[in-house]
Amino acid sequence: MSTLTAEQIRRYDDEGFLVVPGVVSAAMGAALRQRAGEIVEAFDPSTTRTVFTTDEQTRHSDDWFLSSGDKIRCFFEAEALDADGELVVRKERAINKIGHALHDLDDVFTPFSHAPLHGEVLAELGLADARLLQSMYIFKQPSIGGEVGCHQDATFLYTEPVTVMGLWFALEDATLDNGCLWAAPGGHRTSLRKVFRRAGADNADGTVMDELDAAPLPVAPDELVPLPVEAGSMVVLHGLLPHWSGANRSPNSRHAYSVHCISAAAQYPAWNWLQRPPGLPLTSF
Ligand code: FE2
Repeated sequence: MSTLTAEQIRRYDDEGFLVVPGVVSAAMGAALRQRAGEIVEAFDPSTTRTVFTTDEQTRHSDDWFLSSGDKIRCFFEAEALDADGELVVRKERAINKIGHALHDLDDVFTPFSHAPLHGEVLAELGLADARLLQSMYIFKQPSIGGEVGCHQDATFLYTEPVTVMGLWFALEDATLDNGCLWAAPGGHRTSLRKVFRRAGADNADGTVMDELDAAPLPVAPDELVPLPVEAGSMVVLHGLLPHWSGANRSPNSRHAYSVHCISAAAQYPAWNWLQRPPGLPLTSF
């Protein structure tokens, strides 16, 4: 029996994304939000000043980021720090995201991430042998939640061939005011424009962004459509789909959790920024 309707599958094939309401129960959403709060509470902000912005990714690709593929780490909002690197808001309002192995290492996020329903949805949309690669808890903090520039996820999670798909779960209502997702319908049928890769074997070598195709991504937000969704919704994103989310200047946060998956059969380059040690192989649903 199918989890998705034929119409949902057709829409995903046409548009490169699919909104599925009511996937995360209110109780589960509350449990995930609470657990994220506990992780931030336990986080010592003196251990890093690493911020997360996609626009300036190459400038901030330090060891804290490059070695986080098999860890649970906090990353700051750019506007949470002043020019001297001091926090200008309290810690629980300063974190941009937690990444990138919540789906394997956390007692609350691991079972949620591996829910069979998620694997069934991916399989019905074309990823039958999915492996969970990366997870992020995204806060999009009130007033200072940063823009995530228009990008394709395959730029950051590349496989040969491209197989990455994203599952994005709204844990609070995502609105036009608090920085909901925007996407370019049909844009998944265009080329991959860039790849973000390690510049060398060591984290200290940093990263570079290689251009594969000079065709510009759609200009955000004018050439994209907004995807406001209620808390509990799941948004499935094709790895080539151009998408964007604006800054949050509203007084409300916009918490979301995302899991990115790839095909077990695809080749995973050693130059991808995210590398996992042999002792922590990718898991399936
Ligand atoms: Fe993305």
